[in-house]
Amino acid sequence: MAARIEHLGVAVPSLEEGLKLYRDLLGFSQEFLEEVASERVRVAGLAAGGLTIELLEPTSPDSAIASFLAKRGPGLHHVAVAVEVEGLAALLPRLKAAGVRLLDDAPRPGSRGTRVAFIHPKGALGVLIELVERPAG
Ligand code: CO
Repeated sequence: MAARIEHLGVAVPSLEEGLKLYRDLLGFSQEFLEEVASERVRVAGLAAGGLTIELLEPTSPDSAIASFLAKRGPGLHHVAVAVEVEGLAALLPRLKAAGVRLLDDAPRPGSRGTRVAFIHPKGALGVLIELVERPAG
């Protein structure tokens, strides 16, 4: 089975600014806009040619996205990979057993009803990788 990029996560100080660029000027179509309270972010999903970009705006200074913006400024935050066959419950222990450093031992809520878990960038060649499992059905 081929791997698939589920979305790219881009940290922005303001969704409005991001939407102006990607949606209004570059022609991405806006698929959703929601708050993921557990992650303390507002998320706008923008589609273009089968790829989704998620713009992430912090809703609180203790959000991981707020720290990222403070340290690095706006920019590419993570690459999200779809977990389609075995599911996170099977994949996470397998990665852990292979010595991959995880940020999440158990799935947590993502946007659009998905369940997600992150691999630590130090365990993934410097890239923050989000694993995404879509809701069943
Ligand atoms: Co994401």
